[in-house]
Amino acid sequence: MVGDAHQLFIGLDIGTSSAKGVLVDAAGHVIARASGDYPLLVPRPGWTEQNPEDWWEAAQSVLAELVAQADTAVAGIGLTGQMHGAVFLDAQGAVIRPAILWNDQRTGAACEAIETAVGSERLRRITGNPALTGFQAPKILWLRDNEPEHYAQLAHVLLPKDYIRYRLSGAFATDVSDAAGTLLLDLEARNWSEEVLEALDIPRGWLPQVFESPDVSAELSESGAQATGLGAGTPIMAGAGDNAAAAVGGGIVKSGVALVSVGTSGVVFAHSDNATPDTSGELHCFCHAVPGSYHLMGVSLASGGSLQWFADRIASDEAAVAQRLGRNLHELLAAEAATVAPGADDLYFLPYLAGERTPHMDPDARGAWIGLTLSHDRRHMVRAILEGVAFSLRDSLVRIEAQGVKPEKLILGGGGAHSEVWRQILAAVLNKPVAVQRDQEGPAYGATLLAAVGAGVHADVDAAVAAMVEAPEHFESPDPELVAEYAPRYDRFTRLYPALRDAL
Ligand code: XUL
Repeated sequence: MVGDAHQLFIGLDIGTSSAKGVLVDAAGHVIARASGDYPLLVPRPGWTEQNPEDWWEAAQSVLAELVAQADTAVAGIGLTGQMHGAVFLDAQGAVIRPAILWNDQRTGAACEAIETAVGSERLRRITGNPALTGFQAPKILWLRDNEPEHYAQLAHVLLPKDYIRYRLSGAFATDVSDAAGTLLLDLEARNWSEEVLEALDIPRGWLPQVFESPDVSAELSESGAQATGLGAGTPIMAGAGDNAAAAVGGGIVKSGVALVSVGTSGVVFAHSDNATPDTSGELHCFCHAVPGSYHLMGVSLASGGSLQWFADRIASDEAAVAQRLGRNLHELLAAEAATVAPGADDLYFLPYLAGERTPHMDPDARGAWIGLTLSHDRRHMVRAILEGVAFSLRDSLVRIEAQGVKPEKLILGGGGAHSEVWRQILAAVLNKPVAVQRDQEGPAYGATLLAAVGAGVHADVDAAVAAMVEAPEHFESPDPELVAEYAPRYDRFTRLYPALRDAL
């Protein structure tokens, strides 16, 4: 360690349901946490939006709460957040319309236009990815084609966390990992692709400056200082998209261990030394937050989101019981599911409630329970959700391994990692030893490591991981009986979506 162990850093995550912040010292001890919720707007089926002003309100209160717990000046801020969203600003920096989020599915026609304009193969080679509905670039084309009055005012397009950087500092900046999720970045060059921008007629001047994740990207302005209680001039590091930041926080900065995150979305994230786009287009290849490196990632759009949907929309009786007992509803549901045998009496669940990315890349994919009988009840339905989500994550792992990246162990993050029954199911379906990520701050915690590197306290991301991330003491091995039980069920699961797709 180069600097003073008592320097303090903040990681701030602009998530889909809330802003979460964490205050740590240079050894990685968590001193304080804070969070602030905001609503998700669903103006039409398949559309998801948020008001950037809501993020800013939450960010200010989270930062102010953390600063109040700091006994010395905060030495740096690392930003992270939900990826892919589009925040549209006019020339004065005012928000033109609500931000369109990562899980929004309105841009099918724009995706086709991008594939045609750039050429599918060229697009994958340059950006590492096919045009996907949630990514940022198709949202810009959607605005052009559907809201010309808003498009006419457009002067800046930012990702969610970068809007907060703008409010804190006045700077238009981003980092390579989040920028890679726009579909406008040249993966090898780690900067905007002139070729793609030109083909899509997007002026480079609309886009922020790109930095490596631990770089100092901006400094807190006087007004940012007043809004948060932090000192003017505090460095703001570039930071990372939420998945890359969570990976840094989990110590996933080289090969061997992958991160499986079961949040609203489900993600299997593996480090890769090279930009190796998966030619099938079923996986994402993005820059990692470790300068010069990359990652492969499979994404399932409704993992924790499927259980959340069940809890919100179907289990309202159970919600009342949970409240009476003072228990967490998800835990209560999972405990019920644990009373049913593995395989849920041959009930399957396809977790495609929000369309699906890996492996189907189909915004029109839909969820289903398949195999219902008179003997099934709510417990089976929940168990099938837990298992279906695990199968969908295996779809990602299988494809990452086919690229030659073969993790031996898995670190589990996100809310789903809290559930013991879900952990056992994941270990068995994925057939790898699993450990729970040490702190559940996830992305925000990873962002503090990037802040500490940018402030010069640790020499690089590897050194920050060595100093600040406690490797899990114990990996739980999968139960061999469960592994054998789930292997043929996974094969059957993979046949269900193709069989149904053409019928709907
Ligand atoms: C990743 C993705 C999601 C969001 C969630 O490609 O879309 O994981 O980053 O916050």
